[in-house]
Amino acid sequence: MTSSQGVIDARQVTKKLRLGKLEIAALRGVNMCVEAGEMVSIVGPSGSGKSTLLGIIGGLDTPTSGEVYIDGVEISRLGEDKLTEIRNEKIGFIFQFFNLIPTLTALENVALPIEFANQRRYKPKKRAKALLQQLGLGDRLNHRPSELSGGQQQRVAIARALANNPPLLLADEPTGNLDSESGAMVMETLHQIRAENGTTIVLVTHDPNLAKQADRILTLIDGRIEQESLPEKLAIG
Ligand SMILES: Nc1ncnc2c1ncn2[C@@H]1O[C@H](COP(=O)(O)OP(=O)(O)O)[C@@H](O)[C@H]1O
Ligand SMILES: [Mg+2]
Repeated sequence: MTSSQGVIDARQVTKKLRLGKLEIAALRGVNMCVEAGEMVSIVGPSGSGKSTLLGIIGGLDTPTSGEVYIDGVEISRLGEDKLTEIRNEKIGFIFQFFNLIPTLTALENVALPIEFANQRRYKPKKRAKALLQQLGLGDRLNHRPSELSGGQQQRVAIARALANNPPLLLADEPTGNLDSESGAMVMETLHQIRAENGTTIVLVTHDPNLAKQADRILTLIDGRIEQESLPEKLAIG
């Protein structure tokens, strides 16, 4: 076995899903390597396997075959306890529909993953407050998700993803449910996080304008990476 490289090293990952009597090959042998500090986008038609791939890389789902190394640790066959620990410490997830806990305030949502951490590196409420302030939500600490706009909810979700300062941030269509202005703000936040912390980011998106803000673009078609391209250099002012 050769040693793994990068923050993400996925090798020959397949995923078969059963839908009634039908067996669907959602992933058909994906190889993907992402270096520390890189920002990579994944594009592709609906149903091409983008969310399945991100879920497997993030340890939310397991592959049918293949290997997934995160920060050098093979996660695809770990037990639930160890996997939960790795998700909590190493991976931040951002979803299209925010997935905040509706009964908790913004502050409590962000503090939760810190409270769950095995080795607590931060004081939960103090860290949550600082992150929310950094994301421009210092005046919304005690609001519940229903009392926030979509863009604000997504920024709370980003703060939650950053709670334990993970080296890896995975975002599945994070702007898909936002107006373009809030979407642009979310993208700006991702760039800022990366610049400040060296966070590795994988971004799934439908929007070519967002995809090309990354260092590399992977195109997933029918469960395979069919293309890898570099975005045209943009003059971002
Ligand atoms: N829980 C599931 N059970 C059965 N099939 C699924 C399930 N989730 C996704 N699929 C199928 O797997 C394929 C890939 O889905 P997905 O990863 O969600 O694609 P994308 O995110 O690119 O739209 C699709 O054909 C989809 O219908
Ligand atoms: Mg999807």
